[in-house]
Formats: sequence, structure tokens, C-alpha cells
Amino acid sequence: SRSLNLAVIPGDGIGQEVVAEGLKVLSAVLPQDVKLETKEFDFGARRYHATGETLTDADLDALKAHDAILLGAIGDPSVPSGVLERGFLLKLRFAFDHHVNLRPSKLLPGVATPLAGQPEIDFVVVREGTEGPYTGNGGTIRKGTEHEVATEVSVNTAYGVERVVRDAFARAQARPRKKLTLVHKNNVLTFAGHLWTNIFNKVAAEYPEVTTDYLHVDAATIFLVTDPARFDVIVTDNLFGDIITDLAAAVSGGIGVAASGNINPSGDFPSMFEPVHGSAPDIAGQGKADPTATVLSVALLLRHLGYEDEAARIEDAVSADLGERGDLPARSTSEIGDTLAARVAG
Ligand code: IPM
Ligand code: MN
Repeated sequence: SRSLNLAVIPGDGIGQEVVAEGLKVLSAVLPQDVKLETKEFDFGARRYHATGETLTDADLDALKAHDAILLGAIGDPSVPSGVLERGFLLKLRFAFDHHVNLRPSKLLPGVATPLAGQPEIDFVVVREGTEGPYTGNGGTIRKGTEHEVATEVSVNTAYGVERVVRDAFARAQARPRKKLTLVHKNNVLTFAGHLWTNIFNKVAAEYPEVTTDYLHVDAATIFLVTDPARFDVIVTDNLFGDIITDLAAAVSGGIGVAASGNINPSGDFPSMFEPVHGSAPDIAGQGKADPTATVLSVALLLRHLGYEDEAARIEDAVSADLGERGDLPARSTSEIGDTLAARVAG
């Protein structure tokens, strides 16, 4: 019989509530012969306050022994900005070499968008996850003076760029429209821009069926609003990817439905799946959070582990549920989870 050995990190705020629903739907969709084992980890603000730790080497060892990681959200106003972001989330993405940060955007039927005329939106952003300005490579001199100078260096390696560009081409090749857009700013960031563009063009030669396109990131934000249907797969660096995926979420149903995967395609380390949203302390503990983004992250997790049918069943259930929402009174976090669990089981 098969087994799925899952590390669960509910985290802070609404993370606790949405992860419970994600697990509910996961249990309901898994075939009988798959033995689901979950181990919960207490990372986040409470652990930080109690111990001063965010993520230790021993924690990384413990996490490593799993097939995948499901994360709710980490962050709380009581912890200074940057401590958990760098000390937990980025540390984990870097330690497990999560170089493919996968963020799909699909506007499902019945879901509101601020865009006019309900455009077709169905694209996926492949955001590089381990390099760029996120590496912490920089410094400050003359700190606190009028002459302070701060640098924040964007690191781009041929190895790191080529592997994520290859992943994006393979994903584009597997989709019906077979279109890949490189998003960068190669007119200004000429060093990194040329590396990305050259590698993109080199790999493109191996994928004659994939239509390629290039957009500067500023122009890409215009098209994400005026013509999102033009996008199929987008590949971009860590920081541009961070910014455009929030915009992508905003136009395709909002942060309540935006899912993501921090993927290490080699399988050397477990990949981590999380909703794009944060811990939302303002609504935590009230049963108001929408667990849909977490449930869709569970679908990405299942697809990554080869459970394609189960992933598709979750996505169909979410699609049906969102389609009916307009006619229903508002439901609590757990009521939405119950509905989705019933749908995937039945
Ligand atoms: C995200 C978040 C993180 C990022 C922060 C919290 C470090 O915004 O997952 O998009 O910038 O990657
Ligand atoms: Mn972000």
C-alpha cells in the first residue's frame, strides 16, 4: 500500500484554521489504500517568543523526512518585520532549494474580478525561488547617518536561471496554448537581464512548439490588467515574481483563492505548498477565513506527488463551490471545508 508522509505547519493567525480544512479535504480525496501520516510542527510567532527560534538545523532535518510540507501562514504583528520572513520562510525555501515557486492564476466561473468584462484568465507564474534580491546579499554603510548607503544585490546564476527557465518551458510545452513569456527589466537591469534573456533564448531553441514572448515587468503589470488572456506561462525572477503574483491574485479572484507551491523538482528535499495569503491576524480565530487557497494548495501538492486525478477532483470541487457561492449565505471556514470534503468524496 502507498503512504503519504506529510509535514504540517499551521503557523500563525488564520493559518491554523485554513490548514485544518486543507487536511479535511486531503483525507476525503485520498484513495483508501494510501496511508496518510501527518506530523504537526509549531513554527511561527508563538515558538519564536517562547524560544527565540524560528527554524533550526534540527527542525530542517525533521522536516526533510517527509514527502511534502503543507504550510498555513507565518507572521504576527508581535514579531518585528523580517524576522519570521527571513528566519523561517526564506530559510526554508533556500535550505530545501525550492527554486520553482509555482503560482497559478485561474479566474473560475462565478468569481468576481475587478477587471471589466470577465476576461479569460488561466496562466501560471513560474517565479524563481532561491536567487535574485532575496539572497540577503548587501549591506549598509554609515548606518543611521545622512550619508547612509544601502545595497541589496540581486544574485543571478547561470545554473539557477537555466533550471527555472527549463522548468517553465516544460510546463508551457505541456499546456494546450504552449506559450511562455519571460518577464524582466533587461533595458535597465542589463547584467541580470542579459543572462536571463540569453538563457531563455538558448532553451527556446529546444522547444520549437512553444511560442515565446518577452515583456518588461512594468509593461507586464499593464497587460495583467488590460489583457490577462495573453498569458499562458510566465517565467520571472524572485522579486518580479513576488510582485506580479499579488497582482495576478487580485485580478483572478483575490487572495482567498490564490495557491502556491515552493517546489524542488529533483525531489532531493520535500516541496512546500502554501496559500499566497498571510496570517490575517485581524480575522484570526473567528471562522471567517476562506480555506479555498489552502485547499487549492493541497491540489498542487497532490499533483506534485503524482496524484493527478485527486488534484483534479479538488479543483473541480472548488470550481463548483465557487460557482454556487453567489446564491448562498456566507459560510464559516469549516463549513466551506465540509462542503469541499463532501464534494471530493462523493
Ligand atoms: C510571498 C511572500 C514572501 C515573499 C514574504 C513573506 C517573504 O510575500 O510568499 O509572496 O516575498 O516571497
Ligand atoms: Mn508575496
